[in-house]
Amino acid sequence: MRPCRARRPERRPALLEFRDVRKHYRTGEEVVRAVDGLSLTIGAGKMVALYGPSGSGKSTLLRIAAAIEPPDGGTVLVDGRDVTSLSERDAARYRLFVLGWINQQADLIGGVTALDNAAIKPLAAFGSMRRARRTVAPLLERLGLGGRLDHRAETLSTGERQRVMIARALALDPQVVLADEPTGNLDSRRSREVFELLREETHTRGLATLLVTHDERAASYADAVHSLQDGLLTDSGPEAALAP
Ligand SMILES: Nc1ncnc2c1ncn2[C@@H]1O[C@H](COP(=O)(O)OP(=O)(O)OP(=O)(O)O)[C@@H](O)[C@H]1O
Ligand SMILES: [Mg+2]
Repeated sequence: MRPCRARRPERRPALLEFRDVRKHYRTGEEVVRAVDGLSLTIGAGKMVALYGPSGSGKSTLLRIAAAIEPPDGGTVLVDGRDVTSLSERDAARYRLFVLGWINQQADLIGGVTALDNAAIKPLAAFGSMRRARRTVAPLLERLGLGGRLDHRAETLSTGERQRVMIARALALDPQVVLADEPTGNLDSRRSREVFELLREETHTRGLATLLVTHDERAASYADAVHSLQDGLLTDSGPEAALAP
């Protein structure tokens, strides 16, 4: 893998701000208002949970925040910088150094160990597998996977795979974490562990974490909770809880 030559941005706590974000999809005659004018601010060190039924626009919102697709209107600001209009190169750098992404499916590379699966981002950044492994090994240990470093992905339990994904997301010390139903495949005990872990990492690392989920247990771990319906927040949580 070719290392990313771009300079690593300065690491400092960042606000994640959605300002009047809109995304409409047109398929033939039909217009789907996937995200329909959503505004939300997440302070550094805060975890916000967004609940919404299937099709309410959760993944679309995260893809926009990850600079994977542009909105039709509005902006997403990270540390005051608009991330919706980055060049391809800057978007890749943003996803590598600023963002941590956690998916519902722990899509690890088969045949590759837990350690090397978690080391992908530092490998892309530094170009040295040895250095990448040194970066993530302590993190995996802290996440309770110290005894699994050399185990191949397909031999790990679902909960272990999800923790490898979390280690991968946190490996380069991001400012913002986006989690798309990270407990969708886990039983209730493992789900609680993942929420606890995300809460702890959010608070200790000063992350701005946005967690979208169907799982109501997330409420007791998040600093603020909102509901999403047809691309819009249907409530507004206490802004005070979101201040940096
Ligand atoms: N590329 C696309 N083209 C057309 N419609 C799309 C596209 N992406 C998403 N949509 C539509 O936008 C709406 C929101 O989709 P999205 O995937 O964001 O929902 P979600 O809340 O993540 O749902 P789920 O809980 O099932 O993952 C849905 O009606 C979906 O069909
Ligand atoms: Mg989704």
